[in-house]
Amino acid sequence: MKIVPGPASKQLGEKIAELLNLETVPLAFKRHPDGESYVRLEGDVENEEIAIVQTTSPPQDTRLMQLALIADAAKRHGAKKITAVVPYLAYARQDRVFLKGEAVSVEAVARMLRAAGVDSLITVNVHKAKVLAKFPFPAKTVSAIPLLAKYFKKKGFEGAFSLAPDKGAVWLAEEAKQVLGGEYGYLEKHRDRYTGQVSMEKKGLNVHRKTVIIFDDIISTGGTIIAAAKVLKEQGADKVYAACVHPLLIENAEKRILEAGVEEVVGTDSVPSSASKVSLAPLLSRELAKGA
Ligand code: R5P
Repeated sequence: MKIVPGPASKQLGEKIAELLNLETVPLAFKRHPDGESYVRLEGDVENEEIAIVQTTSPPQDTRLMQLALIADAAKRHGAKKITAVVPYLAYARQDRVFLKGEAVSVEAVARMLRAAGVDSLITVNVHKAKVLAKFPFPAKTVSAIPLLAKYFKKKGFEGAFSLAPDKGAVWLAEEAKQVLGGEYGYLEKHRDRYTGQVSMEKKGLNVHRKTVIIFDDIISTGGTIIAAAKVLKEQGADKVYAACVHPLLIENAEKRILEAGVEEVVGTDSVPSSASKVSLAPLLSRELAKGA
């Protein structure tokens, strides 16, 4: 197997190759003056299995297009199997028709990748794992929550309260609790489908004078974490921390979260950012070694 570190995940791709002791295929890429993406493989892929490591955080459409072009180039030049390693899978939250007339975006993305030559896919904490069953190739999601929890454990947070910001994400808190010990729970979140505004229901949680770590898959605008932190402080939590797999951190989200009284925001290198303190390289290299 050879690794192609895509432009959006160059460092992560190189770390994975290093851990697996695999060769990387260098890639030339640029934007044409009119905005179109261009890629060229600068190494041989003939008869090789290749893994393209490319996250699809903003600018999502460009990064998806680069991934599709790399897959096309690899297939065209004789790669025998192409695995897309896409730590953050864009469009995964639009996994059904919520309002009449909408697209199921994540399924459209999967079909596009298949058409470009992708044979299998590995992603990390995709919003809902069941969407992968509808992909036209084998697709798998792995969880980085234990890695995030270990980060906090190393800092001495054993016994902290692990919290999910909504009921659907409670298994994230449960996974974290396996590493940290302590209690776990969830809040009741509501998001207005038209405005995107988040509100959090007050809920009797045993957080008084406790350190609480909120675990979520994504922090985008920070609205969810800010609303959760407010409810936790009102219930007497001592210190509140935020951890997520995909730190999209749109529009100064990190700064606004810290200003809302959260002590630290911790994310992975799924989306390279100032909060990316935990690397996915060990997790993803293990998955690739199993044979995707
Ligand atoms: C949504 O259900 C996700 O799990 C995250 O909670 C959400 O994407 C976070 O978005 P934001 O930071 O904009 O509230």
